[in-house]
Amino acid sequence: MIEIRARDASGRVTELNINGKKLTTPYLFPVIDPRKQILSIEEIEKLGFNGIITNSYIINQNRELRSRAMEEGIHSLLGFDGVIMTDSGSFQLYKYGGVDVSPMEILEFQENIGVDIGVILDIPTEPDVPREQAERELEETLRRARESIKARKKMLLSGTVQGSTYPELREKSARKMAELGFDLYPIGGVVPLMENYRFSDLVKIIIHSRKYLPHDKPVHLFGAGHPMLFALASALGCDLFDSAAYALYAREGRYITTSGTYRLERLRELPCSCAVCTSTTAEELKKLEKKDRDHFLAMHNLTVSIEEIRRVRQSIHDGSLWELVAERARAHPYLLEAVRVALSYGSLENLEPVTKKSAFFYTGSEALLRPEVRRHIKKLKRLKINKKLVLLPEVEKPYSKTYGMMSTEEYHICIASKVFGVIPLEIEEVYPLTQHEAPGGYDEAQINFMKKVVKEYASGFEKVYFHSSLEFLGLEGESFSDVENFKGKNDIEGKLIAIGDYYFGEGAGELLFSETRARISKTGRIREVYSGDRLVGVIRASDGSVVLNVEGVKRLLKLPFPSNRVVAHEDAVEFVSQGRSLFCGFVEEADMEIKPYQEVIVVDSQDKPIAAGRAMVSAEEMLSLKHGVAVRVRHRLG
Ligand code: GUN
Ligand code: ZN
Repeated sequence: MIEIRARDASGRVTELNINGKKLTTPYLFPVIDPRKQILSIEEIEKLGFNGIITNSYIINQNRELRSRAMEEGIHSLLGFDGVIMTDSGSFQLYKYGGVDVSPMEILEFQENIGVDIGVILDIPTEPDVPREQAERELEETLRRARESIKARKKMLLSGTVQGSTYPELREKSARKMAELGFDLYPIGGVVPLMENYRFSDLVKIIIHSRKYLPHDKPVHLFGAGHPMLFALASALGCDLFDSAAYALYAREGRYITTSGTYRLERLRELPCSCAVCTSTTAEELKKLEKKDRDHFLAMHNLTVSIEEIRRVRQSIHDGSLWELVAERARAHPYLLEAVRVALSYGSLENLEPVTKKSAFFYTGSEALLRPEVRRHIKKLKRLKINKKLVLLPEVEKPYSKTYGMMSTEEYHICIASKVFGVIPLEIEEVYPLTQHEAPGGYDEAQINFMKKVVKEYASGFEKVYFHSSLEFLGLEGESFSDVENFKGKNDIEGKLIAIGDYYFGEGAGELLFSETRARISKTGRIREVYSGDRLVGVIRASDGSVVLNVEGVKRLLKLPFPSNRVVAHEDAVEFVSQGRSLFCGFVEEADMEIKPYQEVIVVDSQDKPIAAGRAMVSAEEMLSLKHGVAVRVRHRLG
């Protein structure tokens, strides 16, 4: 049902197959009110929507709609043959305190009217209720979940995660729901948080809920209809959204943009170029009758919403989702705070790709908390370097080229970086150490960050030299002003070993690159590495990835199992040894440290290498998913 097409941050672009109909996620379901549609189904389809969400409870409670739905089915009732999801009346439960159907009745009703994706009648517990209440209501939601999943026939069914604002209850709820094996996992009970701009609390709930939800099912964030949230929620692993906001806001005369909402009375301009906004002016719009004005605003609101969804997907393909999140965070200070809260969770590193098509941009101090930065600082510990440390200020990249020097047998030369703390010249070309940009000068957050990281790194060295321009870091050591003193014979082997350790883990560098010979390009960069006339591997020019060849694989396999390996099921061995991709459904085992876009080795169950290639998803994901590429094979080794 789900295939991952691209990965960035903890988010993904996936292809969902729902009853033979395809949806690309992240996706936004527009909410359709079957009684009073502000936009026609044709208009919604024309904007590019192939899935909608409506409310089965409303249909159930209206005699005419109910009998038509029972007779002709919901697709015919709405005149829509795309994916139809229905909610269950839970929102009415939250809004009005009660509903006139039982959990089983509404489940059966959804099934009978032929919806594609139904939802259990969960209890949307509000934020900050007493813990006993949250627990009690969660128990009832879980009871209904068990009963519903048992009674489910052919409809896909969503099991909503509840638990109010209690992280442990959210985790428990997610774990229990996941055990029951639903097809979709909504995160519920968050509408009041969004209405009150409590984005930090929202983010915590998403992270704690997501932690125990499986990768092979889509996660829906219930009631998140404002486009300024899509990028952040997607970066945290939400795949689906629903928007009633486009219509509710329209009726209240509100004009949505990705950076906030305008009240129509205050609009002098229409700051958008969608089809409706280019057809009129703010003045004319204000003069329209309410019905026409609502229609206009709904068209605009829904257009900017789907546009943002497309932008999020494009950013995932490009590897620039965190940059989009940073941009959106400037829409509201509480959203920026929420981004900081999200980034303070170190666990985000688990799913973060190791390399991206686009450069890492320093967007402000929150960027120092990004998983890429934390990972780099962690991976620095893999380097085993027994030399004198020399710290230089940042210059134009590539640093070694601008300085005209590399680390030597005596000196380990590092850049004091305002984004990554310390950048050893040995590993400068590995993503994102060269592939990042920041404004000139230092801001206060960077200075504090550098002090901390540089000091910690320097503490592992007996002798430290630092350039006089770095005195502000307050380091112990010897200051100098002439870098010429540290030039000498380039230590190519030391560089390769550092790259190996940094990329594949401690010990990998020695195994891979001792007694090898490197071919250096005209621009002074290492290209291929040979042992005798056998190719060990290639250092990719674009991102410093270590692409292994036969000899390299042989050497790296000396690291204990399962380091850097993906074990293929025996039914896939033949296929993969012909040079074709290894699919997720055929992954038996994997090194849990494997991240998206990392170079890996595919082995059989006897640990015999059959291919080398690039992991397209993390180890966690390839073990959970059944479809889609796990490893794109570069070399077969059979
Ligand atoms: N719509 C908005 N929030 C919720 C929720 O918590 N549960 C359900 N079923 N629908 C919702
Ligand atoms: Zn517009």
